Parts: sequence; C-alpha cells; structure tokens
Amino acid sequence: MSAHSPLPSHELAIRVRALQVGFGTRLVLNNLELDVRRGEVLGFVGGSGTGKSVLARTILGLVQKRAGRVEVFGEDLDQLSKEGHRAMERRWGVLFQHGALFSGLTVLQNVQVPMREYLSLSPILMDELARLKIALVGLKPEAADKYPSELSGGMIKRAALARALALDPELVFLDEPTSGLDPISAAEFDELIKTLQQTLGLTVFMVTHDLDSLYSVCDRVAALADGKVIATGTIEQMLAAEHPWLRTYFHGTRASRLTLARAQSTGA
Ligand SMILES: Nc1ncnc2c1ncn2[C@@H]1O[C@H](COP(=O)(O)OP(=O)(O)O)[C@@H](O)[C@H]1O
Ligand SMILES: [Mg+2]
Repeated sequence: MSAHSPLPSHELAIRVRALQVGFGTRLVLNNLELDVRRGEVLGFVGGSGTGKSVLARTILGLVQKRAGRVEVFGEDLDQLSKEGHRAMERRWGVLFQHGALFSGLTVLQNVQVPMREYLSLSPILMDELARLKIALVGLKPEAADKYPSELSGGMIKRAALARALALDPELVFLDEPTSGLDPISAAEFDELIKTLQQTLGLTVFMVTHDLDSLYSVCDRVAALADGKVIATGTIEQMLAAEHPWLRTYFHGTRASRLTLARAQSTGA
C-alpha cells in the first residue's frame, strides 16, 4: 500500500510529487505525494484542518505552492502557458466545500456561470445545455428556475454538481459533497457520483468524512496526516492497515460498526 503507484503519467489524472504548501510559518502540506488514476473515484480522508481542501485548491491553482510538482493528465501545471492553463480548467469541474451556489442566481443561471466564462454560446444553446446538466444530476426540469433558497440541501448539492459538470469535465473535485445531508440524500448523491463515473468515465477526487461514501463509491482511499499522504489503497487495505491513525479513523468509536459489518459482509 504505497503512497503512489508506478503507473505511467498518461494513466494518471493527477500526479503530485514533493508538494509543499504553507501559510506564514506553518507548513500544511509537507512533501505530499499522490496519484489519482484515470477513471477512478479517489476518496481523500484526513482530520479536520489537515489540508484536504488546501490540496484540492493547490491542484486547481488557487493556492500557491512553495515547492513540488503537480501534473494533471500528464501535464506539469507550472509548464502550461496562460492559454494552456485555461484549456486545462475546462477539463475539470469543482464542487467547493462552502461555495455551493450563487444565491442571487437561479439554478439554470448558476450552471451557466462556467459556460459564460469559458464558452461562447448563444443564449438558446446555453439554456439547452444547462437544462441537460440539470437533468443529468437528477433534478426535475422545474428546478432550473428556482433560487437556492427554495431548494433542499440535497438539491443544492445536485445543482452545484450540475455546475461542476457544465463544461463536460473529465475530472471532478468534490469537497465534502455529502456533509450536511441526511443519510438518505447522501446515499442518493453517492449513487449519482457512481453512475456519472460509470457513464461519463469521470475521474473523481472526493474529500469526504463519510464512511458510507468510502465504501459505496470510492475505488481507492488516500489518507492525509502530518502533511503527507500516509496511505493509499482500497477500503479493505485501509481497514487492514496497522498505521495508528488509520486504525483510529477506520475502527474508532465514531466509525460506525454497522457500516464496517456491512462492508465486510458484502465485500464492498
Ligand atoms: N488561505 C489561507 N490562509 C491561511 N491559512 C489557511 C488558508 N487556507 C487554509 N489555511 C489553513 O490550512 C489548514 C488546512 O486547511 P484545510 O485544507 O481547509 O483543512 P481541511 O483538511 O479541513 O480541508 C488549516 O489550518 C487552515 O486554517
Ligand atoms: Mg476542507
């Protein structure tokens, strides 16, 4: 269960090496290494405030790194021209942890935000495309004209996912997408992610604390502690790992025994 696999770059959606990111005197990520394979859903876990969101934002180019190398689809992001980076931004979509939706815009208008920024389409075509995305995430057509305040938590997450999918990305970053949802809505959202992975061939980098999500949607799990990815592997490998942090995380009192029992009995 190594922190990264020896897969060639072209089989990886994300490849991070010797990454250092800090704020002031504090180093948050310290020589972090990570591989995300094309087509997989990678669940990214770690204690609160350990740098999960910072890692996602660094890969996206929203946080500056101090050292290291970040490749997406085999391209070193530091080597890309401005146009090259913009082209890359069209290949990924993001569902931020706190930036769910613009409250002053309808769902349709929210989904069109990336379209307006990156594509030059007629209003009619943009409406059609946005409605397709809204259907894709399982929202009813009438949700398009609603404002976020009129939606349930689960519907807001779906709408935010529709926005993340606006540009037909190959890679999606989801930062705690099911946090705050009731278990049924969370399970439905998980199912949607799995379906999108299978039908669209999406690669998904998903920060989550939801053990159910780790079992039901994630192909592999990576764990962050002390600024590093301390382990990467299947959920079974994580459950069997000796590392004290992993043992506490996956077998601690807050890790539902029911969930564990179910995973072990179904081999999920
Ligand atoms: N822009 C920033 N400026 C200063 N500190 C930050 C900034 N963004 C994140 N941090 C700090 O980095 C650490 C990791 O944050 P974060 O990645 O959000 O944690 P989490 O693993 O919970 O997502 C936290 O201590 C946070 O306060
Ligand atoms: Mg976070």
